[in-house]
Amino acid sequence: MAIIINKDIFTIQTKNSTYQMKVDHYGVLLHTYYGEKTDNSDKSLLYYQADRGFSGNPYAVGKADRTYSLDSLSQEYSGFGVGDYRITAVRAQNADGSQAVEWKYMGYQLEKGKYAIPGLPAVYASQEQAETLIIQLKDTTTGLEATLYYGVLEQCDIITRTVKITNQGKTDVILQKAASLQLDWEYGDFSLISFYGRHSMEMNLQKEKIHHGVQSIGSVRGISSHQYNPFVMVCEKNTTETMGSCYGFSFLYSGEFLIEVEKDQIDRTRLLCGIHSDNFQWTLQAQKSLWLPEVILTHSQQGMSQVSKNMHTVIREHVCRGVWKNKRRPILINNWEATYFKFTGDMLVKIAKEAAKLGIELFVMDDGWFGKREDDNTGLGDWTSNEKKLGCTLKELSQKIISQGIQFGIWIEPEGISEDSDLYRAHPEWVVKIPNRKPCLSRNQFVLDFSRKDVQDYMIKTISNIIKESSASYIKWDFNRAICDKFTNALTADRQGEFSHRYVLGLYRVLEQLNNDFPEVLLEGCGGGGGRFDAGMLYYTPQIWGSDNTDAIERLSIQYGASFGYPVSVMGSHISAVPNHQTGRITPLSTRACIAMAGTFGYELDIAALTAEQKQEMKHQIAVFQKYYSLIQFGDYYRLSSPLEGTCTIWEFADPQGKEALISAVYHHVQANSVPVRAKVYGLKDDAMYQLSLQDYGEKQPEKLPYGFCSGELISGAALKQVGFVIPSAVNGFQAWQIYIKEK
Ligand code: DGJ
Repeated sequence: MAIIINKDIFTIQTKNSTYQMKVDHYGVLLHTYYGEKTDNSDKSLLYYQADRGFSGNPYAVGKADRTYSLDSLSQEYSGFGVGDYRITAVRAQNADGSQAVEWKYMGYQLEKGKYAIPGLPAVYASQEQAETLIIQLKDTTTGLEATLYYGVLEQCDIITRTVKITNQGKTDVILQKAASLQLDWEYGDFSLISFYGRHSMEMNLQKEKIHHGVQSIGSVRGISSHQYNPFVMVCEKNTTETMGSCYGFSFLYSGEFLIEVEKDQIDRTRLLCGIHSDNFQWTLQAQKSLWLPEVILTHSQQGMSQVSKNMHTVIREHVCRGVWKNKRRPILINNWEATYFKFTGDMLVKIAKEAAKLGIELFVMDDGWFGKREDDNTGLGDWTSNEKKLGCTLKELSQKIISQGIQFGIWIEPEGISEDSDLYRAHPEWVVKIPNRKPCLSRNQFVLDFSRKDVQDYMIKTISNIIKESSASYIKWDFNRAICDKFTNALTADRQGEFSHRYVLGLYRVLEQLNNDFPEVLLEGCGGGGGRFDAGMLYYTPQIWGSDNTDAIERLSIQYGASFGYPVSVMGSHISAVPNHQTGRITPLSTRACIAMAGTFGYELDIAALTAEQKQEMKHQIAVFQKYYSLIQFGDYYRLSSPLEGTCTIWEFADPQGKEALISAVYHHVQANSVPVRAKVYGLKDDAMYQLSLQDYGEKQPEKLPYGFCSGELISGAALKQVGFVIPSAVNGFQAWQIYIKEK
């Protein structure tokens, strides 16, 4: 039993964490604790309340207790306008014009298993793996209800939260803000770790002290965005990778989000996470409900690394679904950086043929195969193949490719529409634009209004036809712009504030239908790289193209940032040509392979331009990746050193049973007479003995290997953890080494 209810106290116990709430005398649901595992005792006894000037007292409290104020209590879910002056979870416009929301506890319910959310992605688990706690709050004046859902995956140290808001009143209520998660801390000296970026440079780690005032990250771009990722960590002072209190929050949502933190007048801290309120206004008619997107929470006292591990497990095992969840994903080759828009069918068949010979399993035809699409100015929306360019029909081309002994995959951008397209000419009303204004162009394209059911149905049919005609076993779903000019013809003027969320719901509906209709087809998400890299998308597409930046050294920091919240099994990563097309940098082929192996692994270059020696090396890389596949995709991931510091980025995949590990090390900065780089290995058994070996790519080997390599010495797991071993020094610029450690 992970959920323990003792009168008015709700305690959730996971393997290593405790979460607690309490209903107080006045019917307010207090948040009393979330952190390292403790007993079920009432943590509110340790609270300290004082009379704070200008922090008022609810009328029901009267003169009895001037220390009781909503402005200073840790609450589970707050409302705007009734005496809590901090950032609040819900704001609504009531029939009388007021914006107040005052939550009172009404009751609870327990359920076996994990709740699901209609139309939205959610963590799933078997009846045995999860429990659900449902708590009912109500504003007794207006009849607005908040049903708080807690999904508890005890063994994974995961708690999920979502809220269903229901209007039990008689008149419309307009929701103006509705956070999925509120978390209050009574004490603490915290830092917020978030991941910011831009197109082609996503996932840069930023750690900032949570100071007095409000700090926030979010997106108003219609997509979760390259600019800020909807995953954050909150750490106590002095938390490291392996020590200290750390919380992780992942929002399962692919649209506009807002994550805010506020440290208040008495140093208490509040975190809110939900749909961004700037573009949000939802009319709730009487008896209608709105489900909010889900947030995954985890806590560890063992630092950031364990929080990442918990997130990796829950995403890999309880968010990603379907046939491809645990099935080995195909090693693919994508023609984008090999040809861009300038290709013919014959060129593609040639790439596929060469690729098949090397052991590549899937050929992906990227942008440019349809309509009048010779560059990014035209053709989006016209999803019929350009037979002149391909030299045959789509069906014939895919058959030619498949007959080379390789599977066929195809790129689409269903949400994009070019002004110069037959679809636009036929359905100008399907484009997202505000009446009497010209919509903003981005990559010279508009956005198709996915909030409309007719558009959703049209796209389901169109994509289904593409899959059937081409026998595609893989789809890359791209989206190459952010959304503005938000307006839909399908809603009346007073409901336009629903557009952004309805767009995401529409996107999810289409993706869900495709998942159901084509369970064998592997979907890879993409938003011009990492523009929609979020746990929500992963429910529908079990891998996402990580970035349009394929430079191996830049990928070190992009993939490092992503690793905090997401497992490597979801990270689309390819080996591309040198000089790299984005940065001009030249890196060894083995380095590019090592970095692409910290992802789904594939290629994106013109094989014909490679030497026989390089092709031989590629064959070897494929064999290496296949050999270590399970360890890489399902092993425990550790960040051993950061690309943002020092000279060498090191990461590790460890077998969960501690029998083997693979260490990858890339010198991002090479120095003369360098200081030895040491890797401390985690996840091994202290008292077991291990042997180290260097993965050989047939390249120049170090003249002298550090102690312990290849010479048969046995080293204990404890020594490898406490003392670590020295990574061989760099022989080339951007040298990479892979070191395999095996129990003997
Ligand atoms: C952006 C993607 O991220 C690229 O990989 C490629 O598919 C282009 N779009 C095609 O337009």
